Amino acid sequence: MVSDRPIAIASDHGGLDLKNQVVRLLQDDLGLKVDDMGAFSDESVDYPDYGMLVARAVSTGQADRGILICGTGIGMSIIANKFAGVRAALCHNADTARLSREHNDANILVLGGRVLSGELAREMVRIWFNTPFEGGRHKRRIDKIRELEEHC
Ligand code: RB5
Repeated sequence: MVSDRPIAIASDHGGLDLKNQVVRLLQDDLGLKVDDMGAFSDESVDYPDYGMLVARAVSTGQADRGILICGTGIGMSIIANKFAGVRAALCHNADTARLSREHNDANILVLGGRVLSGELAREMVRIWFNTPFEGGRHKRRIDKIRELEEHC
């Protein structure tokens, strides 16, 4: 990672437990700065209210990368991909986490707190932060998305 901007992270109640594990991993094991945007209790909340905070941070450049977690990851990925410049990838295993970086240059990793074990999720986070974008033919495809974003 090039800049020293913090990693933006948020969850709803369905992802709270896993978010707390991921925050510790990012700070203590990977030595990254973290901007934890909530939620901070297991009270039932609406995932768009938290997903938009991380998506906006990445979209505006306040953060280079983000992580979003809800029960399945589906709601968070839907809201995040509404924001310009956001490439949020809902990943389920080590391969999709790696490929989301290599092929899609994903800037937000989305996880399902109710469908992943903590151990697998933490492995996916490590892979996601250590895998560079491959560029080449994949850059051409990302450029097409960027261009479409301006016209739809
Ligand atoms: C909340 O119950 C649940 O709907 C949410 O965490 C998420 O799975 C939505 O996609």
